Amino acid sequence: MIYKNSRGMEVTASCQSTVDLLDQFSDGLLGFSDQTSSYVEAATADDSCPLAQALICMDWLSAETPVGNAAAKVHLGKALALQENATPREKQMIVASQHWAAGNLRKAAVTLDELLTHHPDDITSAKICQVLYFNLGDAPGILRAPMKVAERCADIPYTHGMLAFGFEECNLLDEAESSALKAIEMKRKEPWAQHAYAHVCEARGAYEQGAAFMEDMSDTWSGLSSFMYTHNWWHMCLSYIDMDRLDDALSIFDQHIWGIDKSCVQDQINAISLLYRLERVGVNPGDRWSDIANSVVERAYDQVSVFLDLQFIYALARADHPEADKMLDRIRMRAEQAAPHERIIWQKVAQIAAPGLVELARGKPHTASEAMTLIFPYLSQIGGSIAQRDLMHLFYLDALMGARKFIRAHEILEKRRSNRPSVNWIRHSLNKVYNALDLPQVAKGYVSTID
Ligand SMILES: [Fe+2]
Repeated sequence: MIYKNSRGMEVTASCQSTVDLLDQFSDGLLGFSDQTSSYVEAATADDSCPLAQALICMDWLSAETPVGNAAAKVHLGKALALQENATPREKQMIVASQHWAAGNLRKAAVTLDELLTHHPDDITSAKICQVLYFNLGDAPGILRAPMKVAERCADIPYTHGMLAFGFEECNLLDEAESSALKAIEMKRKEPWAQHAYAHVCEARGAYEQGAAFMEDMSDTWSGLSSFMYTHNWWHMCLSYIDMDRLDDALSIFDQHIWGIDKSCVQDQINAISLLYRLERVGVNPGDRWSDIANSVVERAYDQVSVFLDLQFIYALARADHPEADKMLDRIRMRAEQAAPHERIIWQKVAQIAAPGLVELARGKPHTASEAMTLIFPYLSQIGGSIAQRDLMHLFYLDALMGARKFIRAHEILEKRRSNRPSVNWIRHSLNKVYNALDLPQVAKGYVSTID
């Protein structure tokens, strides 16, 4: 039977209540509710609904773990068994699931992108398409996915939140800001729009504005998925680090970031990248690296995502966990066996950066700096946001500083200073660099205003 969802699109199911559950799933997905998966799981009880199977398949794939991938394949099989009676839109969703389950995120994204051309009301597919382009580091794609539904779904606040993030990743910061504010005006609890606004402030070096905004919005962060909850707090901490509010950032790490869901890969990388950023500016991590490594050790076998694996291996090496070397071997093997569409990220980034990061964690910055130099032409392709990938630039900068390669470090630091002239760690680093480069007169200027 064919029923209609809340946007008037056809859905194959045995009853309207299944379609209503999928509407709730969509709303949860767009609003990052911690209940999202339960709705689609309930919808799969309807054994004549191919869309529920395709959506739960993609929900599992978004966990980015081998367990999630295995569960996804079970539901993909059920979706394929139902595809004969599916609508053309549902068939395309199944094809996208098939590509994603096979590890070809590009084909999955393009399939949904094409679907959106013909179904500009399908905000759920736009959301999933944006996630895929995000994982591919395809900034124009991150913008194009919501742009295709922008007109028909202009009444939905989440549309503007998605647009805001797409604009920001394309460095169209004014457009990003106005889209984010529009979404928040329509619905204050729009965590993705709040998040996009934090990205805009981060990109502009407007850390005080970003911190104040996120502090103001933080009362709306209950009931969010652990990723969105910890990630919005993570953004607040980035601002706090620039403001030198290091105790506050560490306290947020303990209360709102590490420990919400220690098994969630996104929580894990929020914790790893924040702890690194805190430690490099002088915060004592205590036993937090060991604690993270104990949760991350299971991930040492994954090799699902280069973006994730590089952060996992750093955490394991930093905690002196023996699994780091074994994970390095697995990454090398994964790179050798990479399919053509993923060779660049595994061979030109993972295989080179992973040993470099292990060396950096073990206090050998020279080797690390040489390895990291090579990855930057390909870095965006590992996915993640500009702010998240900045961790790799910080690893590189710290390796250069540790290896006393001050000429290159100087170039990076002066670029950073341009929109963060008052940030203490940048000023301290420039003071050190100018002294080392026999420019004590310039170096002095960087300590005079340090608190
Ligand atoms: Fe972010």
